[in-house]
Amino acid sequence: MKNIALILASGTGERSGLNQPKQFFEVGGQTLLEHSVGAFDRHVLIDDIIVVAHHDFLEQTVALTRRFKKVIKVIAGGATRQESSYNGVFSIEEAENVLIHDAARAFVSEEIISTCIDGLSKHDAVCAAIEASDTILEVNETGKIICVPNRNFLRCAQTPQCFKLELIKLAHRIARTNGQIVTDDCGLVLANNLADVYVVAGSSCNLKITYSRDLEFARWIYAQEGISNE
Ligand code: CTP
Ligand code: MG
Repeated sequence: MKNIALILASGTGERSGLNQPKQFFEVGGQTLLEHSVGAFDRHVLIDDIIVVAHHDFLEQTVALTRRFKKVIKVIAGGATRQESSYNGVFSIEEAENVLIHDAARAFVSEEIISTCIDGLSKHDAVCAAIEASDTILEVNETGKIICVPNRNFLRCAQTPQCFKLELIKLAHRIARTNGQIVTDDCGLVLANNLADVYVVAGSSCNLKITYSRDLEFARWIYAQEGISNE
């Protein structure tokens, strides 16, 4: 059974307000991209890694990931995360499972990757997630609260989001035909009711670096956790 990791690193990091895409920012002497790729490269159950990079930064991405022995190719992404995921998924020739991961979640752990792969032995689609610590409010366009969903049934989605390869290919194909736009890969499967998707345990350390302040927090986590970057 072949497990492929697809690392999405084709964003431009607009919200960070920083002067280069956030995957190239360094924590503990390595870029966020290297931390993400390294976690999958070290994992004994991952066979190959494909990195999806912004076309303006292809060479930089190749240079940073060359030393990881499981990286088989670096391909160009698209204008949206969904397009980048599409390009990545359809660049996979053969595999059983695909684990799609945001390069910006640089501290994905060996345990999360193992839990995801184990989840795919029971389900066709799984998503790393954590419990919602805050109460989540649903509001209308005027800001009026219309619903306070029961927190016990709420989860915050992370990545990896993981699928049987044929399932995620089908979901992408249908979404493209129908012009569906979703924010994540699980949404593609759910929008078309193609499979049940189950959550597996993520971690608060598996944060997505989005704003510049997240980078400070990431440095703090790195220092606290002593995350391996061998
Ligand atoms: N991503 C991608 N292709 C895109 C947009 C995003 O591969 N066209 C990747 C990013 O590189 C990131 C992950 O998807 O690893 C999550 O996206 P996000 O946090 O939104 O990153 P950016 O799009 O880079 O940031 P922003 O939305 O602030 O511009
Ligand atoms: Mg984005």
